Amino acid sequence: MSVTYQVEAGGALTGRIRVPSDKSISHRSIMLASLAEGVSHITGFLEGEDTVATMNVFRALGVRIEGSRQGNVTVHGVGLRGLEAPPRVLDCGNAGTAMRLLAGLLAGQAFDSELTGDDSLRQRPMKRVAEPLNAMGAHIETAQGGRPPLRIRGARQLRGIDYALPVASAQVKSALLLAGLYASGRTRVTEPAPTRDHTERMLQAFGYAVEKSGSTVCVRGGGTLRATAIEITADTSSAAFFMVGASIAPGSDVTLEHVGINPTRTGVIEILRLMGADLQVLNERTAGGEPVADIRVRGTELRGIQVPRELAPLAIDEFPVLFIAAANATGKTVVTGAEELRVKESDRIQVMADGLQVLGVQAEPTPDGMRITGGPYRGGVVNSHGDHRVAMAFAMAALRASSAITITDCANVATSFPGFVELARSAGLKITVA
Ligand code: S3P
Repeated sequence: MSVTYQVEAGGALTGRIRVPSDKSISHRSIMLASLAEGVSHITGFLEGEDTVATMNVFRALGVRIEGSRQGNVTVHGVGLRGLEAPPRVLDCGNAGTAMRLLAGLLAGQAFDSELTGDDSLRQRPMKRVAEPLNAMGAHIETAQGGRPPLRIRGARQLRGIDYALPVASAQVKSALLLAGLYASGRTRVTEPAPTRDHTERMLQAFGYAVEKSGSTVCVRGGGTLRATAIEITADTSSAAFFMVGASIAPGSDVTLEHVGINPTRTGVIEILRLMGADLQVLNERTAGGEPVADIRVRGTELRGIQVPRELAPLAIDEFPVLFIAAANATGKTVVTGAEELRVKESDRIQVMADGLQVLGVQAEPTPDGMRITGGPYRGGVVNSHGDHRVAMAFAMAALRASSAITITDCANVATSFPGFVELARSAGLKITVA
C-alpha cells in the first residue's frame, strides 16, 4: 500500500506528548522473555510492524505469547532449550534488529531455520553477523553478496570466542551475546565505540550474568534466564523527531514524556545542545532497568557545528532528522564517521541529500556523512524510499519550509512509529495522509 504525506508549511509544536515505546528494547523483551523460565509480563510493548514481526517469529518457534493489548504482552517462556523447529521460513519484515539478533539466537538451536525479510531488508549486509557466528561453530549461509535470506543449520555445538567488532554495531554485538548463551566457555565482544547496551541490561534483568570491562562485554554459556516484568520506555529515536521539530519551529514548547535517556542513545541530545538547542531533561528516574526522563524542548536559533565523530554511533538512527536541524541552523554542519548510514533501511546519506536538494538546501553527501549549509528552503516532493525515519524527518522539515512538502512512500513509518500522523498533528504539525 502506498502512503503519501502532505505537510503544509509553518506552525509550531506544543503540548505534552508520549511517543511510542522503544523499538530496540521491545524486540529484546520478546526474545529474552521467550528464552526465560516462567511467565514474563511486558508493559509498553511497541505495537509497530518490526516488533510484531519479532513476536510472530517467536510464535512460529512455539512460544505462547498473549497480546499485545495496549502494549501489554504476556510471554510464556520456554527456557533456553525449549524453542521448536518453525513450520515455515521466518519473516523479519523490515527489521534488521530482528534478523541479526535472531541469527545469533538460532545458531545455537537443535533445528534448522531460515530468516528472510522485505525488499529493503534483503539488501542489507548480513556477513557481519554470519562470519563471527560461523567462527563460533555456527553454520549460517547467506545469499549472494552476504545478503538475506539466512539459512541456519542447527545441532551445532557453539564455542565462545573473543571478537573485536570491526564496526560499532549493537546488532552484531547482541547477536554474538545471544549465541554466547548457547556456547561453551565465554564469549567476549569488544566494540570500537560504545553502542546501545539494551541486550546487556536486559540479560541482567532476566538474572543472567554479564561481565563488562571497558569496551568489552562477556557472557558465559549454560546459564538460565528467569522470567521477569519489563516496562518499556518511550523511544529516544521517535522522540528525536519532536526534539528537532520543536527546536526549529519558533514558538514551540513541547514536553516529551517518559523518554529513554540511556547514555548509549542520547547522542541526539548532546548534538542538539552543541547546536544551541533549548532542551531540558526533567524528572530523571529509572524504568525497567533503563534511565528515563521527560524532555522539554523550546524553539530557538540553532548554529551549524562540526559533529564530534565519537557521537555518531550514539545518534546513528537520528541523523535523518539531525540533517533537518542542520538545514535550519546558521552556518555549516559537518557530519563524519557515520558511514553506517549507507546500509540502514535506505542509504540515508544519499536519500537525505537528494531530498534536501529538492528543497533547495545546500547538502553535499560524503562517503561517511554530509556537509549542510543552513538557510531558507522551499517545499517540494521528496521520496522517502520506504525509509520510516527519512519520511518523519522530512515531515518535520515542513515546519520551516516556505511551501508544502509532499513525502512519498511513507507506509513504513508503521514499522517504528504507529500513530505518527495523529500524534504529530495533535502537537501542531500540519500533516495529512494524501
Ligand atoms: C539497533 C542497533 C543499530 C540501530 C538500529 C537498532 C539495535 O543498528 O541503527 O536501528 O536495536 O540493536 P546497528 O547495530 O546496525 O548499528
